[in-house]
Amino acid sequence: MRTQVAIIGGGPSGLLLGQLLHRQGIDAVVLERQTRDYVLGRIRAGVLEEGFVDLMAEAGVADRMEKEGIRHDGTVLAFGEQQVHIDFTRFAGRPVMVYGQTEVTRDLYDAREKAGAETFFKVEDVTLCDVETDAPYVTFRHEGEDKRLDCDYIAGCDGFHGVSRTTIPESVRTEFEKVYPFGWLGILSETPPVHDELIYSNSEQGFALCSMRHRMLSRYYVQCPLTNKAEDWSDDAFWTALKARIPQEYAERIVTGPSIEKSIAPLRSFVCEPMRWGRLFLCGDAAHIVPPTGAKGLNSAASDIYYLYHALLEHYQEKSTAGIEAYSGRALARIWKTQRFSWWMTSLLHRFPGQDPFDLKMQRAELAFLNDSEDAQAALARNYVGLPY
Ligand code: APR
Ligand code: PHB
Repeated sequence: MRTQVAIIGGGPSGLLLGQLLHRQGIDAVVLERQTRDYVLGRIRAGVLEEGFVDLMAEAGVADRMEKEGIRHDGTVLAFGEQQVHIDFTRFAGRPVMVYGQTEVTRDLYDAREKAGAETFFKVEDVTLCDVETDAPYVTFRHEGEDKRLDCDYIAGCDGFHGVSRTTIPESVRTEFEKVYPFGWLGILSETPPVHDELIYSNSEQGFALCSMRHRMLSRYYVQCPLTNKAEDWSDDAFWTALKARIPQEYAERIVTGPSIEKSIAPLRSFVCEPMRWGRLFLCGDAAHIVPPTGAKGLNSAASDIYYLYHALLEHYQEKSTAGIEAYSGRALARIWKTQRFSWWMTSLLHRFPGQDPFDLKMQRAELAFLNDSEDAQAALARNYVGLPY
């Protein structure tokens, strides 16, 4: 079998790249370890930068998002009862789009099927071979048969636990990591969101976030110790914790209900350098992880896809390898800025075990500065809606 671009991983990164390439007549095959239903069963964040929205439009998959997504012009940051409103449209000239990652992935799978593009699900033993040569290939097992896929390039879009990153020899690869001493317990509930914007709250009991998917589907989170198990949290315990951590005006009017999903996610900052080795490109979670506080996971994957897509277009349409040579540097330059923002939001809004009174004063001072300074609000707004590609 032969294709131009072998895409490892059928998450949002791999699917978006596949769809963009398909629209330009560049052939790509996607290899996914799980089933489509399994991939679509994963609940992830739901805030899309305008750059991501534009890429979805370029990929021809923006119709449902434009109909069902909700544009948010701002967000609320709370510290106890004190609130700061960040106006995205005023300070950054753009809103963000609230539309679940699951829906993004579903739209991309639907488009891929409609286009008749090839996807292998439930692949096993994916191995990336001769990546440093001009003739790379991928071997894998599918439905009990050994297969070989020859290609020009390989896009490693297989997430944090994939094989692509570890194909790069340890002597070439440097990994940077920060693990936070807490997780987020998140629930989905079929209740109206408490507010028409997201609320990020730093309270004495820890961080909380009020988010949403649509008018009758809310997504809420509370910071919790990593030793907690989701099943040990009753719905009642969750709602009690959430209400204690958000300003009273919201706690009083929040509509509670049974959770339809409940899970705990650890928080981590991670970057692998470089993001290209020979003809292998790392994209999305395969190369970097951010803590979810700035809603940057999917958005930072999208900027990689933007750089790689344009690099491949330059190669196939203009016979130039400039974009390919520049890929890792360009992607990492933006990733590190996004890492900084996600780390800053995380540091500002959480209660850290062993946090001393000085650290708490620093958080308060930071928030007071944000409250008083339009420049600080503008900096937050510009990062939140997304730095330019
Ligand atoms: N072979 C084939 N597929 C694999 C392999 C493998 N060895 N290992 C992992 N995969 C698949 C996973 O099953 C998954 O479907 O790769 C896909 C990677 O998808 P994601 O983890 O969703 O990563 P990515 O597509 O980069 O998405 C970006 O944005 O909100 C964030 O972290 C969130 O996943 C999200 C990310
Ligand atoms: C979500 O809706 O799941 C969500 C929103 C914003 C974040 C993180 C998660 O920062």
